[in-house]
Amino acid sequence: MKNVSSVYLNGQFIAPEQATISVFDRGFIFGDAVYEVIPVYGKKPFRLPQHLQRLGINLRAVAINNPLSETAWSKMLCQLIAENDSDEQSLYIQISRGVAPRDHAFPEDHITPTVFAFSQPLKTPPMSLLEKGVNVITQQDIRWQRCDIKSTALLANVLLRQAAVEQDATEAILLRDGHITEGAASNVIIVDKDNVIATPPRNNLILPGVTRDLILELARQHQMPAKERSILESELATAKEIWLSSSTKEILPVCKVNDQIVGTGKPGPVFKEMLQHYQDYKQTFREGYVE
Ligand code: PDD
Repeated sequence: MKNVSSVYLNGQFIAPEQATISVFDRGFIFGDAVYEVIPVYGKKPFRLPQHLQRLGINLRAVAINNPLSETAWSKMLCQLIAENDSDEQSLYIQISRGVAPRDHAFPEDHITPTVFAFSQPLKTPPMSLLEKGVNVITQQDIRWQRCDIKSTALLANVLLRQAAVEQDATEAILLRDGHITEGAASNVIIVDKDNVIATPPRNNLILPGVTRDLILELARQHQMPAKERSILESELATAKEIWLSSSTKEILPVCKVNDQIVGTGKPGPVFKEMLQHYQDYKQTFREGYVE
């Protein structure tokens, strides 16, 4: 890990080479763990309360006690940020149930969760990509029914994104029962034929993305029509614009789906407006005017 000087493991800040965990860690054996990815701008964690709130919900959903208070999370993450030279970083947090003899059921004895975190430089999408857009493919959503939990058990997501990479695409847009759910590692937002920003509703089939929520918040703030609603697969052909959103991709315009051109084939006017609002919001955050 070239870009990481020290990592946090179970209360200690240590060199990555020294950070080791048991082969019986349930995160390693079962993917019995949850995680968060938090962008850092101007050396400050972006939308930290929202990320910590989601982490708390996920920990409760899998019955792991939250190992740190909100203040302790914040302090630990700020130390990781301070140890990294980059202004823009991406924080990774992972909490597994802990170490126990292999048995699917939770261990009867109390075990201590394994807490791991690190920060690395954030590579936001280059301007050229924002001006050109990216290609995506569609794939059937083969994941489980609790995609709202940000679990490290990501084998389906890994295979789906690899399928995209092998077809020279940036992301796979996932389809379940004729509807769009999300991307393999992102949320999907469209500008529909009526010029309304639309994104699938929060339910068990998608991760409630922090970036997606911010986009909806910015749309409301700037009187841009926006709706959370089911989106049919067929709307991929009629949408004027399609975007992807995530903490590391921010907002990315899609120019082709399965080699079919989206809208005019270039990032559209609604994307350009939203990108401007998003960049302005980030700048205000860097300057310390919003949390
Ligand atoms: N992934 N949906 C899925 C399946 C994701 O993995 C992600 C993010 C999102 C977007 O969520 P947010 O806006 O909160 O980042 C939606 C992260 C970045 C990852 O796994 O690296």
